[in-house]
Amino acid sequence: MQTLIEASEIQKVVATLGHQIATEYRDQPLTVLGVLTGSIVFLADLIRTIDLPLRVGLIQASSYRGATTQPAELRINDSLVPDIRDRSVLLVDDIFDTGHTMAALLETIRRSSPRSVRSAVLLWKSGKAKVAIQPDYHCFQIPDRFVVGYGLDYNDDYRHLPFIAALEPKDL
Ligand code: IMP
Ligand code: MG
Repeated sequence: MQTLIEASEIQKVVATLGHQIATEYRDQPLTVLGVLTGSIVFLADLIRTIDLPLRVGLIQASSYRGATTQPAELRINDSLVPDIRDRSVLLVDDIFDTGHTMAALLETIRRSSPRSVRSAVLLWKSGKAKVAIQPDYHCFQIPDRFVVGYGLDYNDDYRHLPFIAALEPKDL
């Protein structure tokens, strides 16, 4: 595999995003909602750089890729979502690829009548979107490669790597 983004670079850019969010959400009832499982590392680092009172919640989205890089049917499990009525929700995911996952999650979250919803992703594969929305915040734009690390997996492996790496075709 080939390292695309070093761990130290990720830490720097995540902290910058956290400070921006802290400025923009001052005096708002913020709930940061992480998308399981890919967002866990980004979520844990990001919330520690947002110097505001906030709540953390989780929602699950899975597309059952297994040992393939092609998404299958999307399933959303919102049973872990706390009460977000009238709260300012920041939806945090690992990557915006086609955008189908983000679009479906936003629709699910809006049914709970939050005060506002915005999205933040670590990675944005720009140019691949198949939906009309874009992430409100992102840390890095990346080329169309299959990447792992910092929460992202291939067949549930590699999530613990502190950096982002692209898998070579022979690894897939
Ligand atoms: P989308 O619905 O096509 O935007 O895909 C979003 C989901 O697919 C992400 O939350 C990831 O779980 C997964 N995904 C997309 N691209 C990659 C990748 O390069 N590496 C690992 N997972 C990915
Ligand atoms: Mg995911």
